[in-house]
Amino acid sequence: MCQASPTLLAQPAFDGQKGPYMGIAILGSGPADEAAALELYRARCGYYDLQLAPYEALRRCAIQSLQLQPCQIVLDIGCGTGMSLDLLQQAVGPAGRVVAVDQSRDMLEQARQRVERQGWGQVELVCSPAQDADLPGQADAALFHFTHDILQTPAALDHVLAHLAPGARLAVCGLKWAPPWFAALNPLVWWNAAQSVTTLDGLDAPWAGLAQRGARLEVEPLYCGTLFLASGQI
Ligand SMILES: C[S@@+](CC[C@H](N)C(=O)[O-])C[C@H]1O[C@@H](n2cnc3c(N)ncnc32)[C@H](O)[C@@H]1O
Repeated sequence: MCQASPTLLAQPAFDGQKGPYMGIAILGSGPADEAAALELYRARCGYYDLQLAPYEALRRCAIQSLQLQPCQIVLDIGCGTGMSLDLLQQAVGPAGRVVAVDQSRDMLEQARQRVERQGWGQVELVCSPAQDADLPGQADAALFHFTHDILQTPAALDHVLAHLAPGARLAVCGLKWAPPWFAALNPLVWWNAAQSVTTLDGLDAPWAGLAQRGARLEVEPLYCGTLFLASGQI
């Protein structure tokens, strides 16, 4: 965990409107900020896996909800350090394909080391913003695990959905604002968001962009509505 206190955020220690400071983003509304996200994850890549460890049960549920079969192609959009790759590659087996995309070289380098250590021949890593990534034509499933900025980037959603086969499975999970009756938890949501995302837009229903594009998703609020798992099909 970064030890910076939120009060530091107001100090004139950085130039940008929304640039990250000690691994904390300056959050507001507006589109996701690629430069700020790259800085954020450059700062975080060394200890990211430790921070995400408490969410492993959610990762497993999300991946299970993809109902992957041997030989299928699955996209891991915003794959980060590759924490989902083991479960994904097991599910599609040696004849399947896992295409894992991330725009952060620093995060993807951790994923590359993981893939190399494990010798996962069916995992391909693509270093690119999701909206420009070279993707296979007709994937069977896509995972969006803690990828709020991507979910708020219309071009990324259009691009990924254009590379999914009809009926492809989707699993989406991450942070969301708690409902009014658990509003006291929202400072915690904000604190976690400040370390992960560069826009607060859409945090009440992060899956909405996918739903607007025709995804049929069942949404399950978790942890008093501060997290969600949305799964279904396109
Ligand atoms: C919170 S991490 C999640 C990583 C991984 N999915 C996991 O669950 O451990 C968000 C990741 O999304 C990546 N990212 C953010 N915006 C992106 C974009 N437009 N295209 C590709 N990757 C993006 C970041 O670089 C970061 O690695």
